[in-house]
Amino acid sequence: MAEEGTYRIAVLAGDGIGPEVTAAARVALETVAALYDRRFAYEEGLVGGAAIDATGEPLPAATLEVCRRSDAILFGAIGMPKYDDPALQVRPEQGLLGLRKALGLFANLRPVKALAALVPSSPLKAEIVSGVDLLVVRELTGGIYFGKPSRRWTTARGRRAVDTLPYREEEIARVVRLACALARGRRGLVTSVDKANVLNTSRLWREVATEIAGEADGIRLEHVLVDACAMHLINNPRRFDVIVTENLFGDILTDEASVLAGALGVLPSASLNGRRPERPDSPAVQFGMYEPIHGSAPDIAGQDRANPLGAILSAAMLLRLSCGLEDEAAAIERAVEATLDGGLRTADTAQDGTRVVGTREMGEAVAREIAAA
Ligand code: NAD
Ligand code: IPM
Ligand code: MN
Repeated sequence: MAEEGTYRIAVLAGDGIGPEVTAAARVALETVAALYDRRFAYEEGLVGGAAIDATGEPLPAATLEVCRRSDAILFGAIGMPKYDDPALQVRPEQGLLGLRKALGLFANLRPVKALAALVPSSPLKAEIVSGVDLLVVRELTGGIYFGKPSRRWTTARGRRAVDTLPYREEEIARVVRLACALARGRRGLVTSVDKANVLNTSRLWREVATEIAGEADGIRLEHVLVDACAMHLINNPRRFDVIVTENLFGDILTDEASVLAGALGVLPSASLNGRRPERPDSPAVQFGMYEPIHGSAPDIAGQDRANPLGAILSAAMLLRLSCGLEDEAAAIERAVEATLDGGLRTADTAQDGTRVVGTREMGEAVAREIAAA
């Protein structure tokens, strides 16, 4: 048993740069723990390609048990080139999708903030990206990611494949409800993104979103088609406050939106199921899984070149949303900004006049800023 008042964190580092960025996030958590007298107990679990290598399965039962007895999960990334072969039945990505589904993590919060120091790292003009502060709420356990049938087969006339895009009313309602609640603490604008000019699921999405937002006080709801949204995000991103959208659209739009923040490696995320941890004596306020939105980046894995800021900022979200530790979360966020303001960069965000450091050194620099504040 963990000591009373101890937050139990499952650490699923995964593949590629996952272990590197997760280690940096743990340094930030440990620095906060020492400064604010908090206790975190970590338990590691195998997931993704690393789990397939060790056990033959991308999400071993033991890993799921580690997650279930935790207050929150710190997740790195999964995916390995050797498992990219489309003919394979067992894939690292099934580990992540399986976790989301098994734990009911239906809402994925992906904040996109253009930190002043990283504005020059964006290929977009400063006047477009400066001040961007939006939140994408991505539906995470439904839609085409999980619809059945999903399979491929061979017919006399060639190969065929099918994926299915289903949504139930309640799946839409609960994520839109959360988006509205989050918008209330922000600017009150909810942009629901769909493809209602083509898809039945999107027409249902739009209808339910209108009903739910209509019940929410102080919320302005607008509907934007996903293709136009992709354009507005680059053209006029400051017009957005909270974007709520289905699983696949949210996946694509957030990689696009990372360009506003300067790089993919700086975006954090939180995946929530709206419940408290299953552990009865938990001091946590709600369960959640926290991960940078990027993948395992095989092209730079093992080279100490990955940007750890997305993982570190995910740890801050963990403290805020699962542990209720607002001061500690804000301390990490301020330290990230101070580190960047001080001119340190990983290679992905390097600019003239900045000093390029590795993953580990970036993590240590953030920890020093946390301690110095
Ligand atoms: P990716 O996000 O891994 O990488 C895309 C590009 O961004 C690469 O050039 C990579 O070097 C760079 N990049 C990503 N994160 C970075 C970081 N922290 N610092 C610096 N550069 C970074 O996406 P991909 O290349 O399309 O996919 C690689 C693998 O990752 C695939 O197996 C995919 O399925 C998996 N993936 C996993 C997750 C996840 O675990 N949540 C997310 C996306 C992709
Ligand atoms: C993400 C990733 C995953 C997704 C993959 C790896 C299954 O791209 O977390 O954004 O598509 O959700
Ligand atoms: Mn993605």
